[in-house]
Amino acid sequence: MRTICADKYNIHIGHDSLAELDTFLSKSYYSSFIILVDENTKKKCLPIVRKSFSTAHSLYIIQIKSGEKNKNIRNCEKIWRELSGQNADRESLIINLGGGVITDIGGFAASTYKRGIDFINIPTTLLAQADTSVGGKTGIDFMNFKNQIGTFAFPKAVFIHPLFLETLDKKELLSGFAEVIKHGLIADKNYWEQIQASVGRDLKSRPAESWNKLISESVEIKIKIVVADPYENGLRKALNFGHTIGHAIESASLKSKKKMLHGEAIALGMICEAYLSRKCCGLSSQELDSITEFIVSIFKPPPLKSQAKQLIGLMQQDKKNKDSEINFTLLSAIGKAEINNSCSEELIEESIHFLNAICNQ
Ligand SMILES: NC(=O)c1ccc[n+]([C@@H]2O[C@H](COP(=O)([O-])OP(=O)(O)OC[C@H]3O[C@@H](n4cnc5c(N)ncnc54)[C@H](O)[C@@H]3O)[C@@H](O)[C@H]2O)c1
Ligand SMILES: [Zn+2]
Repeated sequence: MRTICADKYNIHIGHDSLAELDTFLSKSYYSSFIILVDENTKKKCLPIVRKSFSTAHSLYIIQIKSGEKNKNIRNCEKIWRELSGQNADRESLIINLGGGVITDIGGFAASTYKRGIDFINIPTTLLAQADTSVGGKTGIDFMNFKNQIGTFAFPKAVFIHPLFLETLDKKELLSGFAEVIKHGLIADKNYWEQIQASVGRDLKSRPAESWNKLISESVEIKIKIVVADPYENGLRKALNFGHTIGHAIESASLKSKKKMLHGEAIALGMICEAYLSRKCCGLSSQELDSITEFIVSIFKPPPLKSQAKQLIGLMQQDKKNKDSEINFTLLSAIGKAEINNSCSEELIEESIHFLNAICNQ
C-alpha cells in the first residue's frame, strides 16, 4: 500500500487500503458512521468494504440513485434529512462510497450539515480515484449548471482500492482514463510514456492491481498542482487541458441522443487542443501525432455529430471564460502545460475539422 500526503489528509492506495480503513474506524472516536452509496456501489462495493472489517462496524446506510442527474439539491436534502432523522451529531462521520457523484454530493452534504462534519472518501471509479480524490471540491448541480453550488472541503482521509475497478463498465473506465492521460500530458513526460507502455490496448483486461502505480502517479501530479493553487487562482488551470473544447463537445452530446461521458468528450477535446498547441504553443508535430494516435487507439472515437460553429458558441458561454475570450491551457511540449492562451475562432474551427478528419478515417 502507498500512502500519499495530500497536504491536509492522507490518500491510501492499494490492496491494504481497506485494512487501513478498518484501523482508521476502529481507532476513531466518532459517535456514528453513516455510509453514502448509490444502488450500484451498495451492491458491488459495500460487501467488499464490509468483508475487509476485522470487527463489524455499525454503518447507517443512506442510498441515493446513481448518475449525474441525481447530484442535486433534492438528494442533498434527503441526506440532510436522514442525518437529522438519525440524530447525527457533530461527531458523526460520513463515509462516501462511490464515484465522483457520491463523493461530490456526500462531501457537500457533510461540509454543510451542522456547519460541517467529518467525511472520508472511498472512491470506486477510475475518475474518482485518479482525479476527484484530490482537490477538496465538493458540490451539486443546480438549475442545469454543473457544480453550481459547492464548497472547498477536505476529507479526513481517502482509501483507494483498485479491486473496485473490476466491476466498473468499460465505458466508465475509459472516461476516467482520459484524466489519467491528461495528467501525463500536462505534467510529466515519463508518466505519459509509462501510460503508453503499460496500458496495452484493452483497458478492461488489465488486472486491477496493476492500476495502483498509475493511480498513484496521477494522484501525485494532481496534488502538486492543487497544493500550489488550492483555490484555483492560476496554476490549477493546467488541469483544464482538453476541457475547453471537451466541455463543449460534452454539452452538445448531452442534448443529442448519443450522450457522451465526460472523459470521452475530454479525450476528443485533448486532440483539438493538442492541435492548437501545435499551432500556437510550440508543441512539435511528432508529439501531436503521438497524442492523437494514442487517444484514437484507446477511445476509437466515432464521427463527431456537432458542428464547429455550435461548439464555439458553447465555448463562448462557458463560465470559465472572461470578456468573451475563449481561454485555453495548451502544451508547449508533452509534460509542459501553459495556461491562459487565447486562439482565434478560425483556428479553433480548424482544430475541430482536424478532429473530424481523424474521427472519419
Ligand atoms: N470534485 C472534483 O474535483 C471533481 C473532479 C472531476 C469530476 N468530478 C465529478 O465527478 C462526477 C463523475 O464521477 P464518476 O465518473 O465517478 O461518475 P459516477 O459517480 O456517476 O459513477 C459512474 C457510474 O458507475 C457506477 N459505479 C461506481 N463505482 C462502481 C463500481 N466499482 N462498480 C460498478 N459500478 C460502479 C455508479 O453507480 C455510476 O452509475 C461528476 O459529477 C463530476 O462533476 C468532481
Ligand atoms: Zn475532467
